[in-house]
Amino acid sequence: MSRLRHLELDLAVSFKERVLRGTATLTLEPAGRTLVLDTRDLKILKVNGSESGWTLGERDPILGSALTIPLAAGARSVTIEYETSPEASGLQWLDAAQTAGKRSPFLYSQSQAIHARSWAPLQDTPSVRFTFSARIQAPAPLTPLMAAARLKDGHFHMPTPIPSYLLALAVGELEFKPVGARCGIWAEPPVVEKAAREFEDVEKMVEAAERLYGPYLWGRYDILVLPPSFPFGGMENPRLTFATPTVIAGDKSLVALVSHELAHSWSGNLVTNATWNDMWLNEGFTTYFERRIQEEIYGRARSEMEFALEVGELQEEMKTLKPEDTRLAGDYAGRDPDDAMTQVPYVKGALMLRMLEEKYGRGRFDAFLRGYFERYAFQSITTREFLDELGRAFPGEDVSDWLNQPGLPARAPKIGYDFETAPKRTWSTQEWLHYLRAFPEDLAASRMAELDRQWDFTASGNAEIAAQWLRMAVRAGYAPAYPRLERFLIEVGRRKFVRPLYLEMAKTAEGKQRARAIYGKARAGYHPITASTVDEILK
Ligand code: BES
Ligand code: ZN
Repeated sequence: MSRLRHLELDLAVSFKERVLRGTATLTLEPAGRTLVLDTRDLKILKVNGSESGWTLGERDPILGSALTIPLAAGARSVTIEYETSPEASGLQWLDAAQTAGKRSPFLYSQSQAIHARSWAPLQDTPSVRFTFSARIQAPAPLTPLMAAARLKDGHFHMPTPIPSYLLALAVGELEFKPVGARCGIWAEPPVVEKAAREFEDVEKMVEAAERLYGPYLWGRYDILVLPPSFPFGGMENPRLTFATPTVIAGDKSLVALVSHELAHSWSGNLVTNATWNDMWLNEGFTTYFERRIQEEIYGRARSEMEFALEVGELQEEMKTLKPEDTRLAGDYAGRDPDDAMTQVPYVKGALMLRMLEEKYGRGRFDAFLRGYFERYAFQSITTREFLDELGRAFPGEDVSDWLNQPGLPARAPKIGYDFETAPKRTWSTQEWLHYLRAFPEDLAASRMAELDRQWDFTASGNAEIAAQWLRMAVRAGYAPAYPRLERFLIEVGRRKFVRPLYLEMAKTAEGKQRARAIYGKARAGYHPITASTVDEILK
């Protein structure tokens, strides 16, 4: 099969039409007679280098349409002229009103898991890696950015091979503020100062990560802070992490997200899951590695507290999942790979690695991880290959209980953090969350009112605390929080916050009505990923 080795993009950005238009030139290896590419809602205008006529297959709701191109004997490249759809699932086009600056529109991509195909024709699987170069033409005064090295204006280059889900683009009114030798923050002008203060430790995080598991191989590590509709917390686009503004709490309490996305520069971006069933290789390793970076920078107690909270979230979520979906070795055949994003690959995966660390000792386990990242750098591997590597380092080790059995094995390590004896008054976000989550499910509205008088939760500007509080408000029928609920859901599109709020509202007829009314105002501002999640809840 001919595989994509190098991609050259030449795209113009039209905010008026909400399309990208231009060409993709694909260099292939080895030469073959038929090339099959993934696309979704792309309008193919012309194919140069095709033997005789190309065909676009029927549209599958999950996979999109296969573009089949017959190749001349020995042909090593094709050029495809195309344009994207305004509804491309991997792009979000924002009006000026949805940005912090309110002056210019904004565009960003989110390619994981299989949305790159909605903005470029390619082999959209994590098992194919390619280098790329790109020219992006955007209207002045907007800045185009890609997760790649920036050459002259609008020109980009990625010299090391990446899988398609790491292809990323953003265009907006953006400013840059350096925070270290290799690190800096990109954000809209009204946000950049505050973001740079929140993320001022990022260079130290890179250094800590290098001490743990070897050199950072991507050159720069910058962070792009997106508008609040970004559907995820963060996305590990190489050299340029994309991040939600909802982690800017003012006290660095949520910066573990940066440790997480940075850790992916090894686990995920260097050693990549070959299929989305192996997603725990990306997310479990990264969640473990995130803990280790947090421990280096902020100490063991804070890292354990964050881990303890994550384990609590895993246990809650597992109650709502089918038992087979709580196994580490996933099986998402025939399903949308976005459905694999539960706490299971993340936290169960990290707990398994923590178990190995405790069993063999940090010294040996860290040496194993360092060797693993070095040996498999720039490769895509399956769980099978990980198991072979594990068996070579620790003969006889058997982790099939973790991989194939539902829930947590009895030998899962206990993550100890004593929230009760932690110092009070100067609580961190995590301590407030723990405090709120400890209240019973059937808390009365009158008790909510008391709490609100004491702590003013309804007015909290911390998105984590606000989301937890609003969920409790819906459950308790605490009406004074409803206006805040509506404002929150209109402003924030991060799925982790939005989804539980709509789920909670959908439990009662009256709540469902309120949910539909709010959604009517909020939907236009949501990213397609978040919108389809909410559509599902309210249908
Ligand atoms: N790579 C993921 C985001 C992702 C996963 C997007 C699956 C699409 C499909 C990213 O590294 C991530 O895990 N983000 C987390 C934050 C993290 C601190 C747990 C998120 O967005 O919640
Ligand atoms: Zn991740």
